[in-house]
Amino acid sequence: MSANLLMEILEMNATPAIDDLIRERRSKRGFLERPVPLDMVKDILSTASYAPSSSNTQPWRCYVVTGETRDRVTKAAVAEFRANHATLAPEYPFFPQPLHDPYAGRFNTFRGQLGDAQGVHRSDKSGRLRDVERQFLFFDAPVGIIFTMDRRLEWASFLCYGCFLQNIMLAAKARGLDTCPQQIWSLQHHVLRAELGIPQDEMVIAGMSMGWANNSMPENCMTLQKLPLEHFASFSH
Ligand SMILES: Cc1cc2nc3c(=O)[nH]c(=O)nc-3n(C[C@H](O)[C@H](O)[C@H](O)COP(=O)(O)O)c2cc1C
Repeated sequence: MSANLLMEILEMNATPAIDDLIRERRSKRGFLERPVPLDMVKDILSTASYAPSSSNTQPWRCYVVTGETRDRVTKAAVAEFRANHATLAPEYPFFPQPLHDPYAGRFNTFRGQLGDAQGVHRSDKSGRLRDVERQFLFFDAPVGIIFTMDRRLEWASFLCYGCFLQNIMLAAKARGLDTCPQQIWSLQHHVLRAELGIPQDEMVIAGMSMGWANNSMPENCMTLQKLPLEHFASFSH
């Protein structure tokens, strides 16, 4: 965008398109069968790679799975989940145990909202397991992406990774696609290593579903509360 155009937008008090993309991006948990052209995925990842990273270290590594590979990976992951769901563990800690407030409160509110949308009550254990299983089907999305990072890297590289992931989600949204970032895929590191030949020195950080969202599903139409500015920012001058 030229400086002149930017000034014009600001003078008109219009919101730049990027703000709309940021606000409209939502995690989607159900996708249509419609295929996604591979060139589109390549464009998205190439664009996302312009993310900032500490001293330009670019710690990301992606394994994109579609077609038969996607089917093989999801089949293996679902089988692993059915056999070992009680003992599967991620490659890095997700939350402190127990999780404290205010995060526990927000976590529970979100889980309750998602369960209600999916029609699964908290006490319905088998229903909940069925829903978690859908995570390992990439929610039927035609494109799955597994993200890894050299395990010798430190916390700072997770910050860089977050910038990269958000870029992917926004670049996808700009093309009409939707996504769900899924750290739950870290639980499947053994399966993914075997199926995709991921070397031991790479840590499986997360996965992502990408495709055309099925917006007739209630879980894709939830309104989530985002904290008002005054709850997370202070201004001094
Ligand atoms: C790092 C990260 C990991 C996530 N992992 C999962 C996941 O494993 N499964 C899932 O369904 N959603 C996952 N999400 C999506 C969050 O639940 C979602 O971002 C949050 O509830 C806010 O909703 P929104 O993305 O629609 O704004 C993840 C999000 C982030 C940023």
